[in-house]
This record gives sequence, structure tokens and C-alpha cells, in this order.
Amino acid sequence: MHELAVGLNEALKGTCAYDLLSDYGLRMYVPKGIIVQSAEAKQKATRFNATIGVALENGSAMYIPAMKAEFAPDMKVGEIFPYAPMGGLPGLRKKWKEDMYAKNPLLEGKSISLPIVASGLTNSLSLVCSLFLEIGGDVVLPDMYWENYNLILDEQRQANKILFPLFKGEGFNCEGLDQALESAEDCVMVILNFPNNPTGYTPTDSETDAIAAVLKKHADAGKKIVLVTDDAYFGLFFDDEPCHQSIFAKTCDLSENILAIKCDAATKEEMVWGFRIAFITYGSKNFSEAQYDALMQKTMGAIRGSLSNCSMPAQNILLKGMADPNHGADKALGVKKIGERYFALKKALKRHSSESFLKALPFNSGYFMLFWCACDAEKLRTVLMDEYQTGVIRCDEHHIRLAFSSVDAEKIEDLIDTVYTAASKLV
Ligand SMILES: Cc1ncc(COP(=O)(O)O)c(C=O)c1O
Repeated sequence: MHELAVGLNEALKGTCAYDLLSDYGLRMYVPKGIIVQSAEAKQKATRFNATIGVALENGSAMYIPAMKAEFAPDMKVGEIFPYAPMGGLPGLRKKWKEDMYAKNPLLEGKSISLPIVASGLTNSLSLVCSLFLEIGGDVVLPDMYWENYNLILDEQRQANKILFPLFKGEGFNCEGLDQALESAEDCVMVILNFPNNPTGYTPTDSETDAIAAVLKKHADAGKKIVLVTDDAYFGLFFDDEPCHQSIFAKTCDLSENILAIKCDAATKEEMVWGFRIAFITYGSKNFSEAQYDALMQKTMGAIRGSLSNCSMPAQNILLKGMADPNHGADKALGVKKIGERYFALKKALKRHSSESFLKALPFNSGYFMLFWCACDAEKLRTVLMDEYQTGVIRCDEHHIRLAFSSVDAEKIEDLIDTVYTAASKLV
């Protein structure tokens, strides 16, 4: 093992993070080679700097004017073309962390790491799983999850998925989580995604407390838990039913046996799907700054060895956009528009509440809702597509997913009537 990895592991010894790191995670470190020597040269090599692999002209990046012309005139060359700093732009990381505290008042007084920039939330999840989920290791998650998890959990990590039914009645199935954890090995990953894809469900405040209590019970009994919160759709709350704070805020100081990792992203929160900017933030009870630093170093090592670097122009545009005085109001307007679709959907579903061949599962947030259908879901999907020119996603044999986020509010009623009409012909 590299001596730098050994040093980071020394710093983490005695914490749950040390026990939870995968073999790959234990071996990760940030090399002191090119990156560190270049940073040193930036300070001292005032005569010639022949360190970094970019083309420079009079000290700044060379560029093709046609490329520069595509950006706003106030974007500087240095904000577009060079590599971004390791871990992400310091200003963006600071701003994301400040906003995280503002959006999650429960975080007040709690110590967490600085967020690290990853290239989209998919990349965050892949990185975190490579670092903390041993090949073949146990991972607990609800049975309704984003399909793309399979490529990470099954194909990359060959994980042992311990699934539990997401719902018990109309609410979150805390008992299911408890039983799943009971059956898991002593070091286990838990992945919770709220607002959930595909159901659009976020637990209520009391359900979130109950989830935290279940995690603490198992941690107190000696289990080491790495809790990954996939907060992709954070902030898309339209009424008071769902808990408006990330479960990370309730768990990042819960136990010395729990390492909470918040995976969130600008992708949906800032409506910049193609920017590929996400964040990884760590929180654990009694963690020191040196220990957070060791985890960040390992994460940056994993980024260095896979992507090398995240998009510089996307980070700068995001940071500038978030600092704009109109940003807050404009963002709220976008959420309000999606909320109008949500309320139109709730209203449209009421008109069909007596029909038993198609039932909406509980939903209260995010982009999506899920229908259980008595008929074959693939048949319903193809009939909707071929006969009604309507696209939905088939999730499994008896569930179809609707993204209400992508249909204008005035078309929602028609969409729901269409889905019911098509389904009625298949029963
Ligand atoms: C639950 C969930 N997590 C993660 C992602 C990935 O987000 P990104 O586009 O930032 O990779 C998505 C995207 O659809 C998602 O639905």
C-alpha cells in the first residue's frame, strides 16, 4: 500500500469510516506528484513554469477565439479553459456548504466536511460505492429505487442488495428498514433517496425521526453503517407533508458508528442537468477536521484516478448564477411551476379514485409519481405510446412511472384521463 494511503488510514483509525472503507478505499490517496509540484511552481517558479499539461501564453491559457465567443463577455479566460482545482472551485464548495446549512436548519452547530465536487450525482454515487462498499458487500435500500443503481451496485460492486418494501400502508416502512439492517453484516451501506425516484415519496418529519432512531438502534448495537443520502430532488417540496430537510441533517451526528454521506447535486436543484456538477459531503459524530480531511483526500484520489477533473466552465457559471440577485426568486418560480403540476395531478387523480385497475402510490414531492396497474405494465406502456402518443416509463411488471415535472400543468388532467382510458381497455 502507498505510504500516503497508510498515513490517511492512520488518521482514520478508531473511526467507523476506517472499518467501512473498501479495499480500494483503504488504498486511495492523492499523489504528491504533478498536482502538488505544479501548485508549488505556481508560487515559486516566477521565471519559467514548465510543469502543468496545458498550453499557456503570457501566463494564461491559450484558446481558440470561436470557443471563447460562445461564453458571456464577462467570463474570463481563466474561468473557462484551464483545469478546475482538485476537489472543485473553493468558492463554489464554500457556497454550497453555506446553502446546505441554510436549507437544513437542523445542521446548525454540527460539524461536516467541505463538499467535494463530482461530475454529476451518478458519479458521486459511483465514487462513494467504490470507496465504501466492498465487492460483494451488503447494501440496504428500499425496493423502489432509480434503475441506474443496478449498474453501480450489481455490475461495479457485485453487491448483496438487501431490499425492503418502501411502503407500509401509506407511509415509509420503518419496520422493513429495521429488519433489513438486522439481517445485514456488521459493516453495511444504506442508501436512502428522498424525494424518491420513482415514487416521488419523501418521509414526513416523524417518519424521518423514526428512520434515524432505527439507524441509531443498530449503530448502538455495534453495527457500522455508511448512510448514503441521494438528495437528487432535494427542495422539490410543494406542501407541508414531506420533511423539508435532508435526512443527512438528522444523521450526521447521530452515532460514532454512522458515517453519513450527502450526495446532492446542482443537476436538478439548480436545473442544470447537463452541467454535471454534484457534491459529496461527509458527516459523523466526533469526527475531527484531520479525519474529514483524510476522507476528502481519499475521495479526491478516487476522482483523480477516474475523471481526473470536473468541468471548470460549468462550476464557474453555476457559482456566478447562484450569486445573481434574481437567482433565489427565479429558482422559487421554477419550483412553483412544478408544484402547479403536482397539484393538478392530485386533483386529476381524485376523479379516478374509484377505479381499482390503476392506483397511485403515495407521492408528495420531487418529479415523479408511480402507478400500480392490474394489467401488464409493458403492455400499458406500449398501448399508451402507439395508440395515444403518450410516453411513460415501465418500472416493473405492474408499475409505470410518470414524470409530472415534464408535463405542463394544463395538460396534466388530459394525461391522467388518457392513462386511465388506456388501462381500462387492458383489464
Ligand atoms: C435518484 C437519482 N439519483 C441520481 C441521479 C443522477 O443525477 P445526475 O444527472 O446528477 O447524475 C438521478 C437522475 O435521474 C436520480 O433520479
